[in-house]
Order: sequence, then structure tokens, then C-alpha cells
Amino acid sequence: MKHPALTTLALLGLACLGSVVQAAPDDIDRGRYLVSIGGCNDCHTPGYAQVGDRIPERDRLTGDTIGFAGPWGVSYPQNLRLGATAADEETWLARVRAGGLPPMPWSALQAMTGQDLRAVYRYLRSLGAAGSAAPAALAPGQAIATPYISFEPLPPVTDGAP
Ligand code: HEC
Repeated sequence: MKHPALTTLALLGLACLGSVVQAAPDDIDRGRYLVSIGGCNDCHTPGYAQVGDRIPERDRLTGDTIGFAGPWGVSYPQNLRLGATAADEETWLARVRAGGLPPMPWSALQAMTGQDLRAVYRYLRSLGAAGSAAPAALAPGQAIATPYISFEPLPPVTDGAP
């Protein structure tokens, strides 16, 4: 190309195209940071709430078979790695915007900027598929075949700890 400015423009164009096709390392680091401060592992990584960072990153975010039971029925923290590798970015963003059952902090995720949400998606994808799918949610009144944590309030205990 004769014109240096044109060459620069062409290179910039290629660089932009590259960032659409492939996640930049910066996105992945940002996604890792957001997942970390967002407390996502507490529910989506089995055992994380109990032992924290002793669970290596390669084993995280694979979902859990312990349900959360409440007036909504029973919800299960889904396998975020399978979810992100099975869906393209736009489908995944639409899933987050649609929301779902408690106690998933949907509003926290929906409050993120589009750029941050994409970074979360790219981080999840960078971890790759692992583990198996979590059980599907149950409607109120259905039989519960897994262990679960009850979100029903209990009355106060007046004579000693439970
Ligand atoms: C208090 C527990 C809890 C925390 C913390 C939590 N989640 Fe969830 N998450 C859930 C549950 C339960 C579901 C299933 C909800 C449903 O069935 O509608 C879910 C569902 C999802 C889904 C939909 C998955 C799918 O395939 O349908 C995404 C995406 C998600 N969570 C991402 C996150 C991210 C990112 C964070 C951290 C910012 C996070 N979650 C923190 C409990 C949690």
C-alpha cells in the first residue's frame, strides 16, 4: 500500500476484527476479577463457600447439585462453564437479561455494563467445558431428589442454640 495512513487504518481494522473473534487477555482478567468480587463461586462452585480459594480455578464454576428451596420451588446453581461454551455471546447475554429464580443475584449481573458482562462470558469460556449439567429447577410442591438448602425462615430459638 502506497499511503502509510491507509496501511495503519487497515491494520487497525484487522486488530478490531481480531478482538471480536477472540477474547483479549484483558477481557479474561477483567472477567476473572468480576467473578471473584461478585461471589459467583460461593454458589456455582461445589464446596467453595466452605473452603474458598483452596479449590483450584480449573475446578470452579461447574454448578452444584445442592438445591435452594423456597417459595419459588427449588433452583440449582447451573454449570456456568457448560452454559458459556454451549451458547454464543449474544445468547448468553440474553439469558442473563431474562433473569430467573432466586437466590441467584440476577439484579447484580444485570447491573453490570455490557462490556463487563461480556468479560464475564469470555472468562467463563476461557475456562472451557467441565463437569456435568446441574439439575433443572423444580416447581413448588415437586418431589426433591437431591439435598437442598431451605430458604424458609425459622422461628427464633429462645432456649439455647439449635
Ligand atoms: C446465592 C447463590 C448464587 C450466587 C452468589 C450466584 N449465582 Fe448464578 N445462579 C444461582 C442459581 C440458583 C441459578 C439458577 C437460577 C434459575 O434456575 O433460574 C443461577 C443461574 C445463573 C446463570 C444462568 C445459567 C443458565 O445456564 O441458565 C448464570 C449465567 C449465572 N447464574 C451467573 C452467575 C454469576 C456470573 C454470578 C456472580 C456474579 C452468580 N451467578 C452468582 C445461584 C447463584
